[in-house]
Amino acid sequence: MYLTNEEEKMLSGEEGHATQKAMQILVALGKIYDAERMVRVSSVQVSGVSYKNLGDAGLEFLSELAKDGKARVKTTLNPAGMSLTDWRSQGIDSGFAEKQLKVIDAYARLGVEITCTCTPYLAGNEPLFGQHIAWGESSAVAYANSVIGAKTNREGGPSALAASLTGRTPLYGLHLAENRRPTLVVDVQTQLRFPEDFSAMGYFIGRVVRDGIPYFRGITAAGIEELKSLSAALASSGGVAMFHIAGITPESETEVDGIESLAFSSRDLQEAGGIFNDRGASDFVSVGCPHCSLKELATIADLLEGEQVVREFWVCCSREVKRQSDEAGYSRIIEKSGAKFALDTCMVVAPIEELGYRAVATNSAKACHYLRNAGLKVRFMPLEECVVEATRAD
Ligand code: F3S
Repeated sequence: MYLTNEEEKMLSGEEGHATQKAMQILVALGKIYDAERMVRVSSVQVSGVSYKNLGDAGLEFLSELAKDGKARVKTTLNPAGMSLTDWRSQGIDSGFAEKQLKVIDAYARLGVEITCTCTPYLAGNEPLFGQHIAWGESSAVAYANSVIGAKTNREGGPSALAASLTGRTPLYGLHLAENRRPTLVVDVQTQLRFPEDFSAMGYFIGRVVRDGIPYFRGITAAGIEELKSLSAALASSGGVAMFHIAGITPESETEVDGIESLAFSSRDLQEAGGIFNDRGASDFVSVGCPHCSLKELATIADLLEGEQVVREFWVCCSREVKRQSDEAGYSRIIEKSGAKFALDTCMVVAPIEELGYRAVATNSAKACHYLRNAGLKVRFMPLEECVVEATRAD
Protein backbone atom coordinates (compact mmCIF):
# COMPACT_ATOMS: atom_id res chain seq x y z
CA MET A 1 0.00 0.00 0.00
CA TYR A 2 1.43 3.38 -1.00
CA LEU A 3 2.03 5.84 1.84
CA THR A 4 3.15 9.45 1.52
CA ASN A 5 6.19 10.67 3.47
CA GLU A 6 3.94 12.19 6.08
CA GLU A 7 1.99 8.94 6.45
CA GLU A 8 5.26 6.97 6.71
CA LYS A 9 6.33 9.31 9.53
CA MET A 10 3.07 8.65 11.35
CA LEU A 11 3.60 4.91 10.96
CA SER A 12 7.18 5.07 12.21
CA GLY A 13 6.13 6.67 15.48
CA GLU A 14 7.80 10.02 14.76
CA GLU A 15 4.52 11.79 15.42
CA GLY A 16 3.73 10.05 18.68
CA HIS A 17 2.47 6.76 19.98
CA ALA A 18 -1.28 7.35 19.41
CA THR A 19 -0.76 8.48 15.82
CA GLN A 20 1.43 5.44 15.18
CA LYS A 21 -1.20 3.10 16.64
CA ALA A 22 -3.89 4.82 14.54
CA MET A 23 -1.86 4.52 11.34
CA GLN A 24 -1.19 0.84 12.09
CA ILE A 25 -4.94 0.24 12.33
CA LEU A 26 -5.56 2.03 9.02
CA VAL A 27 -2.74 0.26 7.17
CA ALA A 28 -4.00 -3.13 8.40
CA LEU A 29 -7.49 -2.22 7.21
CA GLY A 30 -6.16 -0.98 3.89
CA LYS A 31 -4.32 -4.26 3.35
CA ILE A 32 -7.41 -6.32 4.12
CA TYR A 33 -9.46 -4.35 1.59
CA ASP A 34 -6.69 -3.96 -0.99
CA ALA A 35 -6.60 -0.17 -0.83
CA GLU A 36 -3.94 1.38 -3.07
CA ARG A 37 -3.43 4.38 -0.80
CA MET A 38 -4.90 6.58 1.90
CA VAL A 39 -7.26 9.48 1.30
CA ARG A 40 -7.63 12.62 3.43
CA VAL A 41 -10.91 12.94 5.30
CA SER A 42 -12.67 16.20 6.15
CA SER A 43 -14.60 14.96 9.15
CA VAL A 44 -15.08 12.02 11.49
CA GLN A 45 -18.00 10.76 13.55
CA VAL A 46 -16.86 8.41 16.30
CA SER A 47 -19.11 5.61 17.51
CA GLY A 48 -18.36 3.34 20.46
CA VAL A 49 -19.10 5.77 23.27
CA SER A 50 -21.48 4.06 25.67
CA TYR A 51 -19.68 2.35 28.54
CA LYS A 52 -22.42 -0.30 28.22
CA ASN A 53 -20.79 -1.39 24.93
CA LEU A 54 -17.16 -0.37 25.51
CA GLY A 55 -16.53 -1.94 28.91
CA ASP A 56 -13.19 -1.61 30.71
CA ALA A 57 -11.16 -2.83 27.72
CA GLY A 58 -12.54 0.00 25.55
CA LEU A 59 -11.94 2.58 28.27
CA GLU A 60 -8.33 1.42 28.65
CA PHE A 61 -7.76 1.61 24.85
CA LEU A 62 -9.06 5.20 24.78
CA SER A 63 -7.12 6.29 27.85
CA GLU A 64 -3.91 5.00 26.29
CA LEU A 65 -4.52 6.90 23.03
CA ALA A 66 -5.45 10.05 24.94
CA LYS A 67 -1.93 10.24 26.43
CA ASP A 68 -0.56 11.90 23.29
CA GLY A 69 -3.21 11.63 20.54
CA LYS A 70 -5.06 14.60 19.00
CA ALA A 71 -7.84 14.83 16.43
CA ARG A 72 -6.57 16.35 13.15
CA VAL A 73 -10.00 16.99 11.61
CA LYS A 74 -13.44 17.93 12.90
CA THR A 75 -14.54 14.97 14.99
CA THR A 76 -17.92 14.52 16.64
CA LEU A 77 -19.18 11.86 19.00
CA ASN A 78 -22.05 9.36 19.08
CA PRO A 79 -24.44 9.11 22.06
CA ALA A 80 -23.18 7.92 25.42
CA GLY A 81 -24.91 5.58 27.87
CA MET A 82 -26.46 8.43 29.87
CA SER A 83 -27.03 12.16 30.02
CA LEU A 84 -23.67 13.69 30.95
CA THR A 85 -25.33 16.15 33.31
CA ASP A 86 -28.64 14.60 34.46
CA TRP A 87 -27.67 10.95 34.82
CA ARG A 88 -28.89 10.81 38.41
CA SER A 89 -32.45 11.74 37.45
CA GLN A 90 -32.28 9.05 34.73
CA GLY A 91 -31.68 6.50 37.50
CA ILE A 92 -28.13 5.62 36.33
CA ASP A 93 -25.96 4.14 39.06
CA SER A 94 -22.86 6.00 40.12
CA GLY A 95 -20.48 3.13 39.20
CA PHE A 96 -21.65 3.20 35.57
CA ALA A 97 -21.64 7.03 35.54
CA GLU A 98 -18.08 7.22 36.82
CA LYS A 99 -16.81 4.95 34.02
CA GLN A 100 -18.90 6.71 31.37
CA LEU A 101 -17.51 10.09 32.40
CA LYS A 102 -13.97 8.69 32.14
CA VAL A 103 -14.75 7.61 28.56
CA ILE A 104 -15.97 11.12 27.77
CA ASP A 105 -12.93 12.67 29.42
CA ALA A 106 -10.63 10.54 27.24
CA TYR A 107 -12.46 11.66 24.08
CA ALA A 108 -12.28 15.31 25.19
CA ARG A 109 -8.51 15.00 25.73
CA LEU A 110 -8.27 13.55 22.22
CA GLY A 111 -9.84 16.76 20.90
CA VAL A 112 -13.17 15.15 20.00
CA GLU A 113 -16.21 17.46 20.23
CA ILE A 114 -18.50 16.06 22.91
CA THR A 115 -21.65 16.28 20.80
CA CYS A 116 -23.02 12.84 21.81
CA THR A 117 -25.50 12.60 18.97
CA CYS A 118 -26.17 10.18 16.12
CA THR A 119 -27.42 13.02 13.90
CA PRO A 120 -24.16 15.00 13.61
CA TYR A 121 -25.51 16.49 10.38
CA LEU A 122 -28.11 18.34 12.51
CA ALA A 123 -25.52 19.46 15.04
CA GLY A 124 -22.73 21.18 13.15
CA ASN A 125 -20.90 18.30 11.42
CA GLU A 126 -22.18 18.88 7.89
CA PRO A 127 -19.94 17.44 5.17
CA LEU A 128 -20.32 18.56 1.58
CA PHE A 129 -21.19 16.53 -1.51
CA GLY A 130 -18.23 14.50 -2.71
CA GLN A 131 -16.09 14.94 0.42
CA HIS A 132 -14.34 11.92 1.90
CA ILE A 133 -15.23 11.41 5.54
CA ALA A 134 -14.86 8.57 8.06
CA TRP A 135 -18.03 8.10 10.04
CA GLY A 136 -19.11 5.46 12.48
CA GLU A 137 -22.80 5.14 13.49
CA SER A 138 -24.55 3.15 10.81
CA SER A 139 -27.59 5.43 10.45
CA ALA A 140 -25.43 8.53 10.00
CA VAL A 141 -23.21 6.66 7.52
CA ALA A 142 -26.21 5.76 5.35
CA TYR A 143 -27.50 9.33 5.60
CA ALA A 144 -24.12 10.89 4.73
CA ASN A 145 -23.52 8.67 1.68
CA SER A 146 -27.06 8.73 0.38
CA VAL A 147 -28.58 12.09 1.27
CA ILE A 148 -25.51 14.32 1.40
CA GLY A 149 -23.38 12.50 -1.17
CA ALA A 150 -20.29 12.49 1.06
CA LYS A 151 -18.19 9.32 0.93
CA THR A 152 -17.65 7.05 3.87
CA ASN A 153 -17.39 3.38 4.69
CA ARG A 154 -19.21 2.04 7.69
CA GLU A 155 -16.46 2.63 10.23
CA GLY A 156 -16.19 0.93 13.59
CA GLY A 157 -15.15 2.86 16.70
CA PRO A 158 -11.37 2.18 16.42
CA SER A 159 -11.11 2.85 12.66
CA ALA A 160 -13.10 6.10 12.91
CA LEU A 161 -10.92 7.29 15.77
CA ALA A 162 -7.80 6.26 13.85
CA ALA A 163 -9.03 8.41 10.93
CA SER A 164 -9.48 11.31 13.31
CA LEU A 165 -5.96 11.03 14.73
CA THR A 166 -4.33 10.86 11.29
CA GLY A 167 -6.81 12.74 9.06
CA ARG A 168 -6.75 9.72 6.70
CA THR A 169 -8.68 6.61 5.81
CA PRO A 170 -7.80 3.81 3.34
CA LEU A 171 -9.21 4.41 -0.14
CA TYR A 172 -11.60 1.50 -0.74
CA GLY A 173 -15.31 0.61 -0.65
CA LEU A 174 -17.69 3.56 -0.83
CA HIS A 175 -14.83 6.03 -1.33
CA LEU A 176 -14.68 4.71 -4.91
CA ALA A 177 -17.34 5.71 -7.45
CA GLU A 178 -17.69 2.18 -8.86
CA ASN A 179 -18.85 0.85 -5.48
CA ARG A 180 -21.63 3.41 -5.09
CA ARG A 181 -23.90 1.95 -7.77
CA PRO A 182 -27.24 0.29 -6.90
CA THR A 183 -27.49 -3.47 -6.53
CA LEU A 184 -31.27 -3.83 -6.17
CA VAL A 185 -34.15 -1.74 -7.56
CA VAL A 186 -37.15 -1.38 -5.25
CA ASP A 187 -40.37 -0.28 -6.91
CA VAL A 188 -42.39 1.35 -4.15
CA GLN A 189 -46.03 0.72 -5.06
CA THR A 190 -47.62 2.18 -1.97
CA GLN A 191 -47.83 5.64 -0.49
CA LEU A 192 -45.41 6.31 2.34
CA ARG A 193 -47.11 8.94 4.44
CA PHE A 194 -45.12 9.15 7.68
CA PRO A 195 -41.45 8.84 8.68
CA GLU A 196 -42.50 5.59 10.41
CA ASP A 197 -43.54 4.19 7.00
CA PHE A 198 -40.00 4.83 5.77
CA SER A 199 -38.66 3.18 8.91
CA ALA A 200 -40.82 0.08 8.41
CA MET A 201 -39.96 -0.17 4.72
CA GLY A 202 -36.26 0.31 5.44
CA TYR A 203 -36.29 -2.51 7.96
CA PHE A 204 -38.09 -4.80 5.50
CA ILE A 205 -35.79 -4.00 2.57
CA GLY A 206 -32.61 -4.10 4.67
CA ARG A 207 -33.29 -7.78 5.34
CA VAL A 208 -33.45 -8.46 1.61
CA VAL A 209 -30.61 -6.30 0.30
CA ARG A 210 -28.25 -7.00 3.25
CA ASP A 211 -25.07 -4.97 2.55
CA GLY A 212 -26.09 -4.01 -1.00
CA ILE A 213 -27.29 -0.63 -2.27
CA PRO A 214 -31.05 -0.33 -2.84
CA TYR A 215 -32.43 2.05 -5.45
CA PHE A 216 -35.96 3.18 -4.60
CA ARG A 217 -38.34 4.23 -7.36
CA GLY A 218 -41.81 5.66 -6.87
CA ILE A 219 -41.18 7.87 -3.82
CA THR A 220 -42.38 11.38 -4.57
CA ALA A 221 -41.24 13.26 -1.47
CA ALA A 222 -38.98 12.69 1.53
CA GLY A 223 -37.68 15.22 4.06
CA ILE A 224 -34.95 14.95 6.70
CA GLU A 225 -37.20 13.00 9.08
CA GLU A 226 -38.17 10.40 6.49
CA LEU A 227 -34.60 10.06 5.20
CA LYS A 228 -33.00 9.63 8.61
CA SER A 229 -35.64 7.04 9.56
CA LEU A 230 -34.99 5.13 6.34
CA SER A 231 -31.22 5.33 6.85
CA ALA A 232 -31.42 3.95 10.38
CA ALA A 233 -33.76 1.09 9.53
CA LEU A 234 -31.88 -0.07 6.41
CA ALA A 235 -28.65 -0.07 8.37
CA SER A 236 -30.03 -2.06 11.29
CA SER A 237 -31.74 -5.03 9.62
CA GLY A 238 -29.14 -5.15 6.86
CA GLY A 239 -25.66 -3.76 6.56
CA VAL A 240 -26.77 -1.01 4.19
CA ALA A 241 -24.40 1.95 4.06
CA MET A 242 -25.93 3.69 1.06
CA PHE A 243 -29.18 3.92 -0.89
CA HIS A 244 -30.61 5.98 -3.74
CA ILE A 245 -34.08 7.44 -4.21
CA ALA A 246 -34.91 8.33 -7.81
CA GLY A 247 -35.29 12.07 -8.21
CA ILE A 248 -34.45 12.80 -4.56
CA THR A 249 -30.94 11.72 -3.53
CA PRO A 250 -27.97 13.39 -5.24
CA GLU A 251 -26.42 10.35 -6.94
CA SER A 252 -29.68 8.81 -8.14
CA GLU A 253 -29.09 9.67 -11.79
CA THR A 254 -27.46 6.35 -12.50
CA GLU A 255 -28.03 3.40 -14.79
CA VAL A 256 -30.33 0.73 -13.33
CA ASP A 257 -31.14 -1.33 -16.43
CA GLY A 258 -30.46 -5.01 -15.87
CA ILE A 259 -30.38 -4.75 -12.07
CA GLU A 260 -32.60 -7.17 -10.16
CA SER A 261 -35.81 -5.52 -8.93
CA LEU A 262 -38.63 -6.18 -6.51
CA ALA A 263 -41.91 -4.49 -5.69
CA PHE A 264 -42.76 -3.08 -2.26
CA SER A 265 -46.55 -3.12 -1.91
CA SER A 266 -49.04 -1.84 0.66
CA ARG A 267 -49.26 -5.39 1.99
CA ASP A 268 -45.47 -5.42 2.49
CA LEU A 269 -45.75 -2.13 4.36
CA GLN A 270 -48.42 -3.59 6.61
CA GLU A 271 -46.33 -6.70 7.22
CA ALA A 272 -43.24 -4.59 7.94
CA GLY A 273 -45.16 -2.50 10.49
CA GLY A 274 -46.22 -5.67 12.27
CA ILE A 275 -42.75 -7.14 12.78
CA PHE A 276 -42.42 -5.39 16.12
CA ASN A 277 -45.72 -5.74 17.86
CA ASP A 278 -45.27 -7.59 21.14
CA ARG A 279 -48.33 -7.99 23.32
CA GLY A 280 -49.02 -5.98 26.43
CA ALA A 281 -48.76 -2.42 27.67
CA SER A 282 -45.46 -0.58 27.60
CA ASP A 283 -43.75 0.85 30.67
CA PHE A 284 -41.37 3.09 28.70
CA VAL A 285 -41.97 5.27 25.66
CA SER A 286 -39.23 6.86 23.62
CA VAL A 287 -38.89 8.78 20.39
CA GLY A 288 -35.82 10.16 18.66
CA CYS A 289 -34.01 7.20 17.09
CA PRO A 290 -32.15 8.68 15.25
CA HIS A 291 -32.10 11.81 17.43
CA CYS A 292 -35.05 14.15 16.81
CA SER A 293 -34.96 17.07 14.43
CA LEU A 294 -36.41 20.45 15.41
CA LYS A 295 -39.47 19.71 13.28
CA GLU A 296 -40.11 16.52 15.24
CA LEU A 297 -39.81 18.42 18.52
CA ALA A 298 -42.36 20.93 17.21
CA THR A 299 -44.77 18.07 16.48
CA ILE A 300 -44.17 16.49 19.90
CA ALA A 301 -44.76 19.83 21.65
CA ASP A 302 -47.95 20.26 19.69
CA LEU A 303 -49.20 16.81 20.69
CA LEU A 304 -48.21 17.22 24.36
CA GLU A 305 -49.66 20.71 24.86
CA GLY A 306 -51.96 20.54 27.91
CA GLU A 307 -51.26 16.80 28.45
CA GLN A 308 -49.52 14.92 31.26
CA VAL A 309 -47.46 11.79 30.67
CA VAL A 310 -48.17 8.78 32.89
CA ARG A 311 -45.25 6.64 31.72
CA GLU A 312 -41.55 7.34 31.49
CA PHE A 313 -41.25 9.19 28.19
CA TRP A 314 -37.83 9.99 26.70
CA VAL A 315 -37.44 12.43 23.85
CA CYS A 316 -33.92 11.86 22.49
CA CYS A 317 -32.10 14.66 20.68
CA SER A 318 -28.78 16.47 20.52
CA ARG A 319 -27.96 19.41 22.76
CA GLU A 320 -27.79 21.60 19.65
CA VAL A 321 -31.34 20.72 18.54
CA LYS A 322 -32.53 21.06 22.17
CA ARG A 323 -31.06 24.58 22.22
CA GLN A 324 -33.01 25.45 19.08
CA SER A 325 -36.11 23.94 20.67
CA ASP A 326 -35.61 26.07 23.80
CA GLU A 327 -35.51 29.17 21.64
CA ALA A 328 -38.62 28.13 19.74
CA GLY A 329 -40.54 27.45 22.99
CA TYR A 330 -41.07 23.71 22.34
CA SER A 331 -38.92 22.47 25.23
CA ARG A 332 -41.03 24.22 27.86
CA ILE A 333 -44.22 22.51 26.62
CA ILE A 334 -42.53 19.10 26.39
CA GLU A 335 -41.04 19.32 29.89
CA LYS A 336 -44.25 20.68 31.43
CA SER A 337 -46.01 17.46 30.36
CA GLY A 338 -43.54 15.39 32.40
CA ALA A 339 -41.73 14.03 29.33
CA LYS A 340 -37.94 14.06 29.67
CA PHE A 341 -35.34 15.15 27.19
CA ALA A 342 -32.74 12.40 26.91
CA LEU A 343 -29.67 14.37 25.81
CA ASP A 344 -26.30 12.76 25.03
CA THR A 345 -27.89 9.30 24.99
CA CYS A 346 -30.80 7.20 23.71
CA MET A 347 -33.08 4.32 24.68
CA VAL A 348 -30.74 1.80 23.07
CA VAL A 349 -27.31 2.79 24.38
CA ALA A 350 -28.53 3.67 27.89
CA PRO A 351 -28.87 0.63 30.17
CA ILE A 352 -32.68 0.91 30.40
CA GLU A 353 -33.17 -2.79 31.12
CA GLU A 354 -31.09 -2.29 34.26
CA LEU A 355 -33.38 0.59 35.21
CA GLY A 356 -36.18 -1.97 35.40
CA TYR A 357 -38.08 -1.28 32.18
CA ARG A 358 -39.45 -4.27 30.30
CA ALA A 359 -41.61 -3.07 27.39
CA VAL A 360 -40.86 -0.13 25.11
CA ALA A 361 -43.11 1.76 22.69
CA THR A 362 -41.22 3.68 20.02
CA ASN A 363 -41.55 4.94 16.46
CA SER A 364 -38.19 3.53 15.35
CA ALA A 365 -37.73 0.10 13.77
CA LYS A 366 -34.00 0.37 14.53
CA ALA A 367 -34.66 0.88 18.24
CA CYS A 368 -37.13 -2.04 18.21
CA HIS A 369 -34.51 -4.27 16.60
CA TYR A 370 -31.85 -3.60 19.24
CA LEU A 371 -34.19 -3.46 22.23
CA ARG A 372 -35.75 -6.79 21.32
CA ASN A 373 -32.27 -8.27 20.94
CA ALA A 374 -31.55 -6.99 24.46
CA GLY A 375 -34.54 -8.97 25.74
CA LEU A 376 -37.16 -6.22 26.01
CA LYS A 377 -40.66 -6.30 24.57
CA VAL A 378 -41.22 -3.73 21.86
CA ARG A 379 -44.10 -2.01 20.13
CA PHE A 380 -43.56 -0.05 16.95
CA MET A 381 -46.02 2.80 16.37
CA PRO A 382 -46.20 6.26 14.77
CA LEU A 383 -45.04 9.29 16.72
CA GLU A 384 -48.61 10.42 17.44
CA GLU A 385 -49.45 7.02 18.93
CA CYS A 386 -46.29 7.09 21.04
CA VAL A 387 -47.55 10.31 22.61
CA VAL A 388 -50.98 8.74 23.20
CA GLU A 389 -49.27 5.71 24.76
CA ALA A 390 -47.24 7.95 27.07
CA THR A 391 -50.27 9.95 28.22
CA ARG A 392 -52.89 7.17 28.31
CA ALA A 393 -54.03 6.01 31.75
CA ASP A 394 -54.38 2.19 31.94
FE1 F3S B 1 -29.16 7.04 17.52
FE2 F3S B 1 -29.45 5.48 19.54
FE3 F3S B 1 -30.97 5.19 17.44
S1 F3S B 1 -27.55 6.15 18.74
S2 F3S B 1 -29.76 5.87 15.72
S3 F3S B 1 -30.93 6.96 18.81
S4 F3S B 1 -30.00 3.55 18.56
